[in-house]
Amino acid sequence: MEPTRRLADLRRAGLLRRLRSVSTSQGPRVMLDGEVVLTLCSNNYLGLADHPKVRRAAAKAASSHGAGSGASRLISGNMDCHLELESELAEFSLVEASLLFGSGYLANTGTIAAVAGIAPGGVIFSDELNHASIIDGCRLADAETFVYRHADLDHLSWGLQKAGDRAKLIVTDGLFSMDGNLAPLPGIVDLAERHGVLTMVDEAHATGCFGPEGRGAVVDSGMSGRVDLVVGTLGKAFGSYGAFVGCSNEMRQLLINQARTFVFSTAPPPPAIAAASKALDLVRSKPGRLERLQHNAELLRDSLRGLGIPTGNSTTHIIPVMVGDPSMATALSDRLLTDGIYAQAIRPPTVPDGTSRLRMSVMSEHEPADLRAAAKAVARYAAELGVEFGQSGAGTGAVEPARLARAA
Ligand SMILES: Cc1ncc(COP(=O)(O)O)c(C=O)c1O
Repeated sequence: MEPTRRLADLRRAGLLRRLRSVSTSQGPRVMLDGEVVLTLCSNNYLGLADHPKVRRAAAKAASSHGAGSGASRLISGNMDCHLELESELAEFSLVEASLLFGSGYLANTGTIAAVAGIAPGGVIFSDELNHASIIDGCRLADAETFVYRHADLDHLSWGLQKAGDRAKLIVTDGLFSMDGNLAPLPGIVDLAERHGVLTMVDEAHATGCFGPEGRGAVVDSGMSGRVDLVVGTLGKAFGSYGAFVGCSNEMRQLLINQARTFVFSTAPPPPAIAAASKALDLVRSKPGRLERLQHNAELLRDSLRGLGIPTGNSTTHIIPVMVGDPSMATALSDRLLTDGIYAQAIRPPTVPDGTSRLRMSVMSEHEPADLRAAAKAVARYAAELGVEFGQSGAGTGAVEPARLARAA
C-alpha cells in the first residue's frame, strides 16, 4: 500500500503520529514549537539531562576522548570510559558484571535473541504489557514466545508447565512503562527457579530513580542475585543515552560474542558515557532528587484521584490517565497544551486497543503547585470533552489467554 493511503488510514483511525520540536535543553519546562510548556511526559525523571555537572562531564569527555568511538567495541571502539562505567554500573546494580549497549532497544533485542539462541526451539515467556523492544527481541529470537496475561503468575505457571523442558527465559518490565506498576518479581523468580528458567528484567524506568538508592525494582523486591539479566538504561533517569545489561561474567562473555546489536553496532560515544557516569555519581551522592520524585508522584496521583480521575495501578512516577479512544486522548492532550501543559497521548500499538491514555510522568524538579494545576486542567478539559475514564491496560484481552504463541 502506498504511503499516502497508509497515512490516510492512520489519520482516520486517530493513530497518526507527528513530531513536535523542543528548542531548549530538557527540563521541567521546555520551549515546544515556540511556546514554553510544563513537561509532563519526559523520562528525564531526575532532571539530570541538563544538570550543569552532567553537561560539563560530557563536554570534558568530548575534549579529551572526542565525539565518537569510531567502531564497535570488538573492532577498535572499546575505550577505557566504557570499561570504567561498566564496573560502576555493576556495583550500583548489585550484579557481578555489566555490558553497555547503544540503547535500551538494542540491549533488549540483542540480549533476548542471544540468550534464547542458547537453546533453539525453546520458549520465551513475556508479559503482555512488555515494551516493544522486548516484543521485537522475542520476534528476533530463534524461539517460540508465550505471552502471559499481565502480571498473572497463574497463567505464567500454566505456560511453564505446558512448555516443560522447552521453557528457557522469562522476560518482564520491572516497572511497566505505560502503567507505572511493578512486576510481581518474587513470584516470577520463584517460578523461574522451580522450572530452571532464566529471568530477565527490564529496569528502563527504574534505573537510578526507583528502589533503595535508585538501584531499581529488582533490588527493591529483594531479588538481586536471583535475576539472571537486568537491563538498565542511561537515557531516562541518568539523562544521557545508552543502556546496559547487568549479569554474570560468563553471561557478559556470551553477550559480547553473540548479541548481534552489540557485535555489529558502534560503541556508545564518550560524551554520553561520561554524562551517564556523572549522573550516577549524583544519584549516589544526592538522594534528595529521588525523594522529591516520589513525593511529586504521590502528589500528582493524589490530586488526580481527588478529582475523580482514576490512575490505574500506578504506584510510581509514571501515571496513566486512561481515556480509551485514541482521538479523544489526542484531543485531551491538545487542549492541555493550550494551557501550556505537555502530556502526550499514547495510543496503539504502544498500548493495547481501547486503552489510549495520557501517560503523565513526573520529575523531581517539578513544582508541587504546577502538578496540582495540571491535575485540575486534566479534570476540566476531560469534563468538557466528555471523556469516560477507563482502567489500566491489564487484562484487556490484548492477548488471547492460555495459548503458546508468538508475541503480537
Ligand atoms: C521498558 C522500556 N524498555 C526499553 C526501552 C528502550 O530504551 P531506549 O530508549 O534506551 O532505547 C524503553 C524506552 O522507552 C522502555 O520504555
